[in-house]
Amino acid sequence: MSFICIFVIKIMIYNSDKHNITLAAEAIKNGDVVAFPTETVYGLGADCTNPIAVSKIFEVKNRPSFNPLIVHVSKFSQLEEVSFAENENVKKLINKFWPGPLTLVLPKKNIIPDIVTSGHPTVAVRMPNHPVALKLIDAAGVPIAAPSANSFGFLSPTSAEHVAKQLGNKISIILDGGQSDVGVESTIIELINNRVTILRPGGLPIEEIRKIIPSVDVEQKDTLAPKAPGMLLQHYAPKIELKFLDEVNFNDLDINKVGYLSFNGNKVEQKFKVTRVLTKTNNLREAAANLFKYLHELENENIQLIIADRIAETGLGIAIMDRLTKAANRYR
Ligand code: TXA
Ligand code: MG
Repeated sequence: MSFICIFVIKIMIYNSDKHNITLAAEAIKNGDVVAFPTETVYGLGADCTNPIAVSKIFEVKNRPSFNPLIVHVSKFSQLEEVSFAENENVKKLINKFWPGPLTLVLPKKNIIPDIVTSGHPTVAVRMPNHPVALKLIDAAGVPIAAPSANSFGFLSPTSAEHVAKQLGNKISIILDGGQSDVGVESTIIELINNRVTILRPGGLPIEEIRKIIPSVDVEQKDTLAPKAPGMLLQHYAPKIELKFLDEVNFNDLDINKVGYLSFNGNKVEQKFKVTRVLTKTNNLREAAANLFKYLHELENENIQLIIADRIAETGLGIAIMDRLTKAANRYR
């Protein structure tokens, strides 16, 4: 008896030329999910008006359905299609920061099915600052609901290869738009009545938002019923235990089994198995852009522990420390 084995190798990473963007947009229109680049992290998108398409996102990510999704728009007019955005603060924020790493949570309109908002009366909306994302939304002709394109709870993807590593066997199109240059997810602000509250620190520093809306509050880290999974105590974790430098006792360590995520390369002399320096010039933008990239690289090493420097919590340092603390919490 002879067996003939046929291996079908599907190439899922597509360069983002016009033809492939059209192909991806057709897939979205047909109710499929597609991974696409944004300036923050890669997203896993579906037609936000199609509940069955959106349910595929939850399935692929293994995401609890109590975690609502962000709706991505390419035109200012689409904000009004999906939400009640008649609000002075909204105008000020989108004029200044869109397209960009800022998500607004506003009362939703009926066009948005409950599965997108997990039954909340509000919807999260953002206009990404990435040409491929904007062209894809335009070509699809509808706003795209998308969470980050990773398995729930694990590291966010900042390249097409990161997406393929986690979800490659579950999706058929990943549009490649290069390395995400912001590197951490968007800052999320809720605007309800006259209150403006930051729900998740992210790629737009809180100090920048304060310049436009001085009264902005920061949501307390209450995590039993979080409004955003970014508010869960454990999230964004690599598959290898992560601790901060001040939590480890060097006498107990085999440094050949340790990877070190250094802020600027200045703190520790030891030779670890592998070291990554987020920024040699104390540049927080560079550090944020490298954060998930280096955590993915460390996760691929044969090590047992990642040690990370703490970072001063100002500007983008707030979002970076938020992600590192949540990664460390998984192992506490
Ligand atoms: O930068 C980003 O925001 C990336 C890219 C792909 O746009 N997206 C992203 O999505 O980080 P995700 O699903 O990983 O995080 C979306 C966050 C969640 O924390 C979710 O709970 C919150 O947005 N969110 C969505 N709708 C909400 C709502 N109605 N009220 C409060 N939070 C909401
Ligand atoms: Mg996410």
